[in-house]
This record gives sequence, C-alpha cells and structure tokens, in this order.
Amino acid sequence: MAGGNDDAAPSPPTKEMAAVALEPSLRRTLISSILGGAGEELAGRRVVVGGWVKTGREQGKGSFAFLELNDGSCLGNLQVIVDATVSPLACLVPTGTCVLVEGELKKPPEGTKQRIELRVDWVLEVGGVDAKYPLPKARLTLENLREVVHLRARTNTIAAVARIRDEMAYATHTFFRKNGFRYVHTPLITTSDCEGAGEMFQVTTLFSIAEKLEKELKQNPPPSEADIETAKLLVKEKGDAVSHLKSSEVSEDEINASLSELTKAKDHLSRLEERFKLKPRIPQKDDGSINYDFDFFKRQAFLTVSGQLQVETYACALGNVYTYGPTFRAENSHTSRHLAEFWMVEPEMAFANLEDDMNCAENYVKFLCQWLLDNCLEDMEFMVNNYDKTALDRLKLVSSMPFERISYTQAVQLLEHVTDKKFENKVEWGIDLASEHERYLTEVIFKKPVIVYNYPKGIKAFYMRLNDDQKTVAAMDVLVPKVGELIGGSQREERLDCLKERILEAGLSLEPYEWYLDLRRYGTVKHSGFGLGFERMILFATGLDNIRDVIPFPRYPGKADL
Ligand code: 4AD
Ligand code: MG
Repeated sequence: MAGGNDDAAPSPPTKEMAAVALEPSLRRTLISSILGGAGEELAGRRVVVGGWVKTGREQGKGSFAFLELNDGSCLGNLQVIVDATVSPLACLVPTGTCVLVEGELKKPPEGTKQRIELRVDWVLEVGGVDAKYPLPKARLTLENLREVVHLRARTNTIAAVARIRDEMAYATHTFFRKNGFRYVHTPLITTSDCEGAGEMFQVTTLFSIAEKLEKELKQNPPPSEADIETAKLLVKEKGDAVSHLKSSEVSEDEINASLSELTKAKDHLSRLEERFKLKPRIPQKDDGSINYDFDFFKRQAFLTVSGQLQVETYACALGNVYTYGPTFRAENSHTSRHLAEFWMVEPEMAFANLEDDMNCAENYVKFLCQWLLDNCLEDMEFMVNNYDKTALDRLKLVSSMPFERISYTQAVQLLEHVTDKKFENKVEWGIDLASEHERYLTEVIFKKPVIVYNYPKGIKAFYMRLNDDQKTVAAMDVLVPKVGELIGGSQREERLDCLKERILEAGLSLEPYEWYLDLRRYGTVKHSGFGLGFERMILFATGLDNIRDVIPFPRYPGKADL
C-alpha cells in the first residue's frame, strides 16, 4: 500500500461510525402489482408504497384523509387512507405531494369502486408542494403541458405514452433478436450526409473557442502595435549590447549574462506577437471560407440524420443488423409530424432485396401492434377513452391484415382519378408524394397500411438501387392511417459503377463516400434496409395528434427545453 503500513489491520468501526450507517432501504411495493394482480386477496398484507398524490381530501372534520396515489407503474391510483392521529393531514393532501407510506391493505366497504385500499399507520417520507405547483387538478391541454416538460410525466397522458414508448422499445429489441439481427451502435457525430439533403446540425467548437478568447482578451487586452515596437527596440538594444561585449575584452560570464537578457527580450517579443495575432472570430482561409483545421475534428462534422450508411458496414460483415437511436434534422418544419430530434429504428439486411425489405417492415410493424395489444391494454384503453376511439381497433386490424402493396406509378394513377377531394399539391408522375396524398391512399382508398414502392429516382436518395427501367429506384415507403409516412427504405445500390454515377448525379462529390464505395469494391452484396420513425409509430398507435407529445423532451424550431 503506497505510503501506508502494510501490516496495519483495518481498525474496527467506532461508535460514531456506526451512527452514520446507511438508512434502511426504501423498498416499496409497486401500485401496479397491488391493483393489477390479486386485488382483494391482498387484504391483510402489510406494504410500503410511494407515489405522488393525484387528489387528496380531508374527511370526517379533518379526522382522516383520502389520497389517490399514483406511482407511475400503471395508470391506476391506489386509494390511501391516513388518520390524523398518524400524521398531520394538511401537508399530505395537496395535489403533487410525494409520500412514502406504510400500512395494511384492506378490502373497502361494500359499494365502493375500489377493490383494495391502504390504511396507513406510518408516514415515512413526505415531499411537500407549495401553492405554485404548475399541474392543477384541472386538466391542462397537451399544448400547455409542453411548457412544463420537466413535470408533465406526472400526468396520466404523458405517463401512459412513456409506458407505451418503453414497451415499443422493448418490443423492437425483441423482434429483431427473435429474427437473428444484431444491435449495432452507430455514431451520432458523423462526417457523412446520409440523405444528401443538407439538413444537418453542425457540430463545432469554433464558436465557443472564439467566445472564450473574446472574454479572455477583454480581461487581458492584447498588446498594441506600440507595445510590439517597444519590445522590438528592446531586442535590438540587447542585441547591440551582446555585439559590443563580444568585440570588447570581457569575461565569458559577462557575455553569457548579456546573451540571456537578449533571449528573454526575444521571448517576450514573440509572446507579444502571438497575442497580437489573436482574433476572437471564426478562423478563415485566405479565400474567406471557414478554416476547419482549427475545429475539434479538424474537419466539418454533424449530428447524424440516419445511421444507415454506417450500419451498412456491419450488415456487410454480420449479415442482419439494426441500429436504433436518436437522429437529428435541421429542417424548419413546424408540422405535427416532424421533430428536429427523433428516434429511428434502422434494420439492414445482407442478401435481401426490396421484397425482403417490405416483408421485414410489415412483420415488424405488425409485431409492434400485437405487442401493445398483449402488453399495454390499460394504457391503450386510456387512449381510446380520451383521444382516439379507433386506436385499439386499428392495432387489431394492422396486426392481422396484410398491407397493401402498390407501385408509385399505380399510386399516382389512383390519386389522379380522385374526384371527391381537391389536393393542394398537384398530382403527376415524378412528384414527391405530399402528406395529403399519402394519407388519402392509406386512410381513404385502402383504409389500411400501404407500401408504395419503385419511386422516381429524381426524388430519392443516391444510395437506392436503380431499377432496370433506369427511371425508378427500388425504394419503398410504408404509409399508415393518422400519420402518413411511417417507414422509408430501399434496396441499396450494390454495383460500384452505378453507385458512383448516382452520387455524382446527386451533385455530391465521391471523396467523402470512398469508404462507402469500398463496401462495393470488396465483397459487394445485395442488401436492403429501412428506417422507422419511432415517434410516428407512437402517434399511429396512440392516436395522439402531435409528435411533440410522444417524445419526452421535444426539440423543434425555437424549442429545446432542458
Ligand atoms: O425516410 P427517411 O428520411 O429515411 C432515412 O433516413 C433512411 N436512411 C432510413 C433507412 O433506410 N435506414 O426517414 C425514415 C423515417 C420516416 O419514414 C419517418 O417516419 C421518420 O423517419 N422521420 C421523422 N420523424 C420525425 N421527425 C422528422 N423530422 C422525421 N423525418 C423522418
Ligand atoms: Mg422518407
């Protein structure tokens, strides 16, 4: 032991040490396990429960209080009864109060709606609230709740969404694992623009460095030109002195002393000159463009819009893989279907063509729907009762019926013949289908999910495989009611020459994609994949209207709270 005595035995705990021993565990029983399972059979059992008071009221002239307690484990509240002899009641009843209580589960008197309630004989912990608690008993709109994202998970709706979201994340990993896929973590910081759409957030330290420097120079101003001149003069003087001494008959020590003074003066001058050059601004090249040599990565870097290109490298080694993480798009969209930060599930399969891709997408969406029916019924029923009566029926329908599959050309033909609706965007072959077109196809014409495939190459990304007609690419979008586009995917261009041509056609340069081209140079393989917008899937499942309410911390133009 460094610096210690190896032979010294650890000294026994003193009395003072024992006094600061750990407090007993706060272990508690989840309300879901009390309400969900055996119900009245639990009567007589002693439990500790903790949660937040939804509503509380004093009764019997203040002799006891009813608390509706929710701990987030399920939608339901546990009715908790506290006598005034056990604890002062006024601090327990305000909505939002946190309590940890111990007592006995009892069967309530006949005629009450609860199957079980808790009679408290010990209040272990209280986290009080003051009158300014921003979530009053009266329901706030979802829009208002976006202003209190740090507290909104206390509401029934946002908590239900959180549980549904968690179940879908678990279902996602379950589905892919069951089907032999490996989970790959792709980078969030990237130097490639996957979609080639230029909608990327830049990652740079140039601004913070410039700001720091500006502050520093304010506190400690840079030298003036006069300071530099003075320092130069001093160097000259000291230089002259050395020459003078060298030509005179003086001792070596005297010459060395003079030389050292000269070195000091030179150092001082070069320090001043360095600081004189410091400019609190973004470094530029001679042609005025930004000089990224000074940036953190010594090159431009961005937040990823998709992990696809990187996950392809693993598909071309491990076979079936998927990535699942946050993606970022700096599009200035203010719609109820777009976020600046959203989560995407992106499987990528080696030895798979467009048909395999569509099959995988359809099976995955069906699996998610069935999972929610099997594991999330209570929260889904809440959505039905409060937001969308058809939500459960939709899940049942989608999980059991085959999706429609039509080519882009067929979709355009169908839309061109629509007479009962006037579209804002004109329909003709070659257009990128707008949300109104997508929703009409899935909601009105087919009334179920539709997979549209073989899109014009001009509206799709460079990596999609060119079809033999030279006009379309092997792309597919899954369109679903309520949402429109849920999934975008394709077979990837595996032919080196075709891929190069498509990159150049898209106006991109080959250099940043050389590594991607290597996958085609060395052991190329037919492969396919897709991306499912995770929040869009939650919108589809819950029937909620706005994507900002299905992600815990929504980011969109002008908003990035917390
Ligand atoms: O269609 P996208 O742009 O496809 C890709 O990014 C491919 N690289 C995926 C792949 O093949 N691996 O995006 C995929 C899905 C869309 O269908 C949509 O559901 C969702 O991501 N999405 C968004 N969700 C929320 N906010 C946005 N701004 C979104 N942009 C796309
Ligand atoms: Mg798309």
